[in-house]
Formats: sequence, C-alpha cells, structure tokens
Amino acid sequence: MKHIFEKGSREEAPTLVLFHGTGGTERDLLPLAKRIAPDSSVLSLRGNVLENGMSRFFRRLAEGVFDEGDLVFRTQEVSEFLDQAAKQYGFDRSRLVGVGYSNGANIAGSLLFHYRDALQGAILHHPMVPRRGIVLPELSGLPVFIGAGTNDPICSARETEELEGLLRGAGASVTVHWERYGHQLTPMEADAAAAWFQEHF
Ligand code: MLT
Repeated sequence: MKHIFEKGSREEAPTLVLFHGTGGTERDLLPLAKRIAPDSSVLSLRGNVLENGMSRFFRRLAEGVFDEGDLVFRTQEVSEFLDQAAKQYGFDRSRLVGVGYSNGANIAGSLLFHYRDALQGAILHHPMVPRRGIVLPELSGLPVFIGAGTNDPICSARETEELEGLLRGAGASVTVHWERYGHQLTPMEADAAAAWFQEHF
C-alpha cells in the first residue's frame, strides 16, 4: 500500500496509523497526528481503491452503501499490511492506535469489527457502522474515541449511537464527542481527540 512512515521521538509511545477520507491522501491527517500525539511514530496509508479518481479504503455501491465483500477483503489487506510494515519499520505491532476520518474511520472501525488484536485503540472521526449482522471479536477495555456531528448528513446521530452500542457490546470503552458542524472534523474535535489520547496512552 502507498504510505508514509515517520519515526517518533518516544519509542514507547503507540504508533498512530492514519486513514484519510474519500478523495484524500496519506498526507492529509499528518497535522492531526502531530496534534494528537506529537511524539508518536506515524504510519499513514493511502486507500487502494479508486472511485472516479478519488482514493478510498474500500468500494461502495452508493453513498453509505458499502460493498461488503470488498470491505472484508480490504480490511484483511490493511491488517496484513500492518503486520508487514511493523517488520519493515521495527515498530511494535501490538501498540497501534488507528486514527481515521470518514471513509478512513470506517476502515479503522472495520479492523475492530473483524480482528481482535488489530489495534490497541482507535480514534474514529465521523464513522459509520461498517458492517451489520456479524459477531464482533472480544474488545475488552479497548479504548475508542468517536467524533460525531449531531447534524452530520452522512453519519447520522442514530448510526453513531448504533456503532457505540455495538462496540460497547464487544467490551470496548467508548467515548463519544459530539459537535454540531455536520461531517466536518473541526479543530475542537481534534483537540478533544488529543485530550482523550493523553488520558488513555
Ligand atoms: C464511506 O463511503 O465510507 C462513507 O460514506 C463516508 C465517505 O463519504 O467516505
């Protein structure tokens, strides 16, 4: 996968894995990562799927309607890439915190839905429920931050609550931060994610 790796100054800090939104690149969330965890190493991925020239992490059939087969395939692809990158760059595979926005939050959420040890924690900015009707792995105590908009036209408040319930049901320790700026990732939301990270890692 196309990616950037930047080594952090604090070896024992978890590595942040960044997942951009639809149409983004691996550069988009680098400033956010600096704000959340200035000392952490960062692995930032570019989604392998192209939709009318826009990079994404998995295919969709329409806005908010995911291609489930592709989602499962791409989730495995990312998981395997994380294994390989940990060997290549020498970071601790068991200490990864995923940070994603929109489509990137959905692939990070999908990692949690499909793999027990994929991530040690996750910051999901404006995520949706990646998949329904499956049993989630045991996520006991796994910290998850969700940044959401009460008036987000893409990820409704109701879907945010559904996602929170599914993750809590698997044992995750979920914090939801609400804003009123639609689908935007605002500076306030970034600051809330940073404060949450400092508290948990
Ligand atoms: C998705 O396709 O993952 C969601 O609709 C969010 C987005 O627009 O990327």
